[in-house]
Amino acid sequence: MEETKKSLLDDSFTSAMTLTNSGVPQVPDRYVLPPAQRPALGSSIGTRDDTTLPVIDLSLLHQPLLRSRAIHEINMACKEFGFFQVINHGIPSSVVKDALDAATQFFDLPVEEKMLLVSSDVHQPVRYGTSINHSTDKVHYWRDFIKHYSHPLSKWIDMWPSNPPCYKDKVGKYAEATHLLHKQLLEAISESLGLEKNYLQEQTEEGSQVIAVNCYPACPEPEVTLGMPPHSDFGSLTILLQSSEGLQIMDANKNWVCVPYIEGALIVQLGDQVEVMSNGIYKSVIHRVTVNKHVNRLSFASLHSLPLHKKISPAPELLDGNNAAAYGEFSFNDFLNYISSNDDFLQERFIDTLKKSSS
Ligand code: OGA
Ligand code: NI
Repeated sequence: MEETKKSLLDDSFTSAMTLTNSGVPQVPDRYVLPPAQRPALGSSIGTRDDTTLPVIDLSLLHQPLLRSRAIHEINMACKEFGFFQVINHGIPSSVVKDALDAATQFFDLPVEEKMLLVSSDVHQPVRYGTSINHSTDKVHYWRDFIKHYSHPLSKWIDMWPSNPPCYKDKVGKYAEATHLLHKQLLEAISESLGLEKNYLQEQTEEGSQVIAVNCYPACPEPEVTLGMPPHSDFGSLTILLQSSEGLQIMDANKNWVCVPYIEGALIVQLGDQVEVMSNGIYKSVIHRVTVNKHVNRLSFASLHSLPLHKKISPAPELLDGNNAAAYGEFSFNDFLNYISSNDDFLQERFIDTLKKSSS
C-alpha cells in the first residue's frame, strides 16, 4: 500500500482540477486524442437530434392502471438504446442537491487532502484518482473521481472521505435513495422482459453498489480530449446524475447522441450483466463524456452489480430451441481481473470476450 502511494507520487500525479485551477491555456499532450477519437463538438456530422431520446415518468409504475404503459415504454427504450431518463423517480431534489454540494466541496479540497485516498488498485473499496487509471493510461482523460463501495452502507461508510465533514451524511443519503430506486427499476426491467418481477432482483439481492463521483473541470481545449472514453458499464444497471450536459450515448446506427440535461431527471443505463441475463434482447449502452470550456461538470454514477463472485448467465426462461445462450457466464470479479490485466481493455470490451460465435 505504502509502495503504491509512493510510486504514484513519483509519477507526479496531476489532477484535471489542478490543471484547470492553474489556468493552463492548452491541455498537456497526454490528453490529446488521435483525431479520429476526438468528439467533433459543434459539428452536426455523425450526431443526431436528441429530442427523440426516451424520458419515462416513473410515477406510472405505482398506478395499477398505468403500470403496463410504463413497462412498455421501458421495454422499447431498453431494446432501442439500453438507456432512458426518468422523471418523478421519488428521490427528493434536496437529497440530490446536497449530494452535489458535498461533491463540489470534496473536489475543491487541497490536493494533499485528496491524495490521502489516491490509489490505482481497482480492488480498493475507496479510491480517488484522475483519468481512468493514471498509472497505466496511454492517453489521459479530463476527469477526476472518487469511487467508493456503497452497499450495504454501514459496511463501507466509515472508509469514505471524512472531509468535507458533511460528505458521509449527504452522499450516504443519496446512495441509499439510489439503491431503493435501482430495485424498482430492476423489477420493472424484469417485467419488461417477460420474466418474474423478482428475477433480476433475486439475482442481485446481495449485490454491490459502487458510487463514482466524477468531476470534469472546465477544459481549455474540449475539442481534442474527452472526459471518459467510449465504454459500457460492467454492472446490471447504472443510475446517473449529471449537473449539466456532457454525456453522449451511441445509438443503433453508431451515431453519438448528446443526452440533454433535464432538471430533476436521472439517467438509467443498462450494463453488461443485463445484456447477458437478457441473452442480448437488451444491449448495454456505449457511452462517453465530452468536456466543455466554461463549467465544472459533476456526475454521480451509481453502478449496481451482482455479488463479486456470482456467475451471471442468460436467464433460462429466455432460452429455447430457437434461442440458444449467446453469452458465456462471468462474475464481477472476472471483470475486475480482466481490466487489471489488460492495459488496453478499452479497445476490446469485456462483454465481447463472452460472446459465443453463432453457428
Ligand atoms: C461512468 C460514466 C458518465 C458521466 O462513471 O461510468 O459513464 O457522465 N459516467 O460521468
Ligand atoms: Ni459509464
